[in-house]
Amino acid sequence: PPLNSIINAHDFEVAARNTTTAKTWAFYSSASNDLVTRDANASLYSRIFFRPRTMRKVMDISTATTLLGQPCSFPLFVSPAAMARLIHPDGELAIGRACKTRNIIQSISNNASYSAADIVAQPEVSDHPFIFQLYVDKRREKTNALLAQIKSHKNVKAIMITVDAAAAGKREADERVKADESIENPMQKNKPKNDNKGGGYGRLMAGFIDPNLSWSYLSWLRGEIGHDTPTLLKGVMTADDTRMALDAGLDGVVLSNHGGRNLDTSPPAILVLLEIHRRFPEIIRDHHPSSASVQAGLTKPFSILIDGGIRRGTDILKCVCLGATGVGVGRPVLYATGYGQEGVEQLIDILKDEFEVAMKNCGLTRIEECGPEYVNTGDIDHL
Ligand code: FNR
Repeated sequence: PPLNSIINAHDFEVAARNTTTAKTWAFYSSASNDLVTRDANASLYSRIFFRPRTMRKVMDISTATTLLGQPCSFPLFVSPAAMARLIHPDGELAIGRACKTRNIIQSISNNASYSAADIVAQPEVSDHPFIFQLYVDKRREKTNALLAQIKSHKNVKAIMITVDAAAAGKREADERVKADESIENPMQKNKPKNDNKGGGYGRLMAGFIDPNLSWSYLSWLRGEIGHDTPTLLKGVMTADDTRMALDAGLDGVVLSNHGGRNLDTSPPAILVLLEIHRRFPEIIRDHHPSSASVQAGLTKPFSILIDGGIRRGTDILKCVCLGATGVGVGRPVLYATGYGQEGVEQLIDILKDEFEVAMKNCGLTRIEECGPEYVNTGDIDHL
């Protein structure tokens, strides 16, 4: 369908399903086992209602914010997702350029189909901030070498270490559909085996990831990265691990279940955010980057990012009201990449427009005004 007929994130998904190869669709859309978590991620947002205020003079509002110290146009970021070149030859290059023109941050996957150098050194984006997502390699010297290379790019401003992939998820659609032999495929260097598991791309790509991570190693690695580079853990799924990340010297977490791709029946991340409010309210009260305490220099900032199932601007606003400083989208960006840079720009424009409409209709004029009093989570508080 022509790009001008696309008006929401769902439309991009339908377009991708109808135009990509069976293997690409299986790899992008799949999740583990029975897809319970993947589907709950999206559907849970419809069980949170707003508590909108009226007559707040919302003609002129601002969605602008900062994420990990970087200014951006609204609290959206691109979650790291592997292999964007399967859907368009420009892949992650196009995503990077779209993020620059729309002023949001792209997290580059450790398994991207272009190197981080190719993406961040494009002349169009060389002054734009990026986040790099790292998987720790079993061969630790490989991780050290990769980090040294990443640190040489001055516009990589933060590192996300993904810690929820100790074992490859059982993604059955990806395993059943055989690898594309006919198209030029960035996976070819990994030699997909069309064996009885179909050569699932997810399983093939996860082979190098270290299942023996520990908090002490993470603390050490955080020191190696250097304190001028905010470092987050991605894939944290409990209030306890969030507290441990803060205590271990990390600068934040991404509450995420990897789009339901690793542990099926792990909870939607928004439930973890609610658990943090109940168990450790001080993390948000005293460490949110815009909290009075951080602003006064009394406490260090600790950012809570979130992703999984975000498909509407209203979903983004609910997360921000509950204390998230950044809200990530994974699959919708890959699907929009089917249309190249312009497609990703249009997806970001759509989400921003929906976000703005939601802010105005809630009576919100600035990101700092967003708070839990604007949402009703009664239906899911017991979960
Ligand atoms: C991912 N995700 C992911 N995460 C990560 O830390 N490193 C990676 O390389 C990848 N690769 C990847 C590939 C594909 C095809 C998908 C769909 C996802 C997970 C990603 O960062 C994010 O957590 C989820 O995609 C968020 O859920 P939604 O927005 O896809 O529902």
